[in-house]
Amino acid sequence: MLFLGLASNYSAKDILSHALTLGSDKDYQTLEEVFARKYGTQEESTKPTKNRDKSSLSPYTDALDRTSIVYSGRTAIFLALEAMKSTKKVKNGDHVLVNGFTCKAVVEAIQKAGLVPVFAEVEKFSPDYTPETLESLLKKDKKIKIFIIQNSFGIPVDVIKFEKIKKKHGLFMLEDLAHCAGRKYSDGREIGTVGDATCLSFGKGKALDVINGGAVILRNPSLSFPDSFKKENLKKPKIADSMRAGWYPVFGAIARGLAHVHLEKPFLALLLKFRWIERSADTRLDPTRTITNWQAKLILKKLKNLKNSPLREIYFVKNREICLEELKKHGFRLEELWYDTPVAPKRYYKSVKFPEKSHKNSIFVANSIINLPTWYSDKKHKKELALARKIIKKYEIKD
Ligand SMILES: Cc1ncc(COP(=O)(O)O)c(C=O)c1O
Repeated sequence: MLFLGLASNYSAKDILSHALTLGSDKDYQTLEEVFARKYGTQEESTKPTKNRDKSSLSPYTDALDRTSIVYSGRTAIFLALEAMKSTKKVKNGDHVLVNGFTCKAVVEAIQKAGLVPVFAEVEKFSPDYTPETLESLLKKDKKIKIFIIQNSFGIPVDVIKFEKIKKKHGLFMLEDLAHCAGRKYSDGREIGTVGDATCLSFGKGKALDVINGGAVILRNPSLSFPDSFKKENLKKPKIADSMRAGWYPVFGAIARGLAHVHLEKPFLALLLKFRWIERSADTRLDPTRTITNWQAKLILKKLKNLKNSPLREIYFVKNREICLEELKKHGFRLEELWYDTPVAPKRYYKSVKFPEKSHKNSIFVANSIINLPTWYSDKKHKKELALARKIIKKYEIKD
């Protein structure tokens, strides 16, 4: 069987390492320094590495003050938006342009910061909006002060055009790296080294996955964290949260085993009932807590293995339910789509009041997208994936 969700990108070795890794304060500190170095300076993307003094962090101490590991990706976005507000160029009630194919977590962060999400319609066969869409929305909506680019599934957007618009209109650009940490734009710059703020999520299935967590790097030196936020005061997660994060891949492996006898659903329902697992979309926005040291140590390891390739393969199909059913009969469990409503998950979609009438492309993408995993690299799985593609082809809608 081949899976999309349930930590299926974890090998047996990963599961053990995830459950047994011990970390120290030093690992946590090193991770923050690595992020400050990697994303924290405006010059980072242009200066050749050999000219830098690698043994010293001194050129980055300033960047370090503008970098923090946090409890979740949405917390990172919230703090970046608060920092933008503290420049006085952005005020309560201003608009933040967000991809019209995203997670409720992003919307939650914008609203919590007292700002208003405006959804940018994606292109018909693309999971992201274009610079042209941004440009045309700016003509109608003078309250847009910030735009978020998502590079969905690790597929890079046209950043050069976005940068030009940002400069022309004096906007803030936030790079959300949930899908795309380690990936590169077409001009070779790494995603996260271009905008005013870079936000990472370490939630389930993300490019850097340790079940929960995030990081925020305020790249623009004019930004600073709000006075109410002091990274030195962040508390470690509650024991229950730490245990949930540690055990999740083990539960995922058990659920995958039970899927062979169709018992995974009651098992997962039980885990949810007793709060031994948590749905990804329900991670908290919590600016008072951070991640554990062992999670920081795991991220340090994972950072070394980031690939410049899409996080998932994407296709657009008609009759998706029937297609997924046929795939299931052949052992492909691809139901955990990313995302199946323009703002996912479905259970929160209504509350977002998504402007469906004017966003037909976003609806099309959310209704017809199908994902294949990209983390299976051995021969057997590659052969299986070829069969999945063959099935998908029968339903595929092409541009
Ligand atoms: C595009 C995107 N950005 C940010 C987040 C926030 O992640 P977190 O769950 O860590 O708050 C998500 C969550 O799914 C996401 O899909």
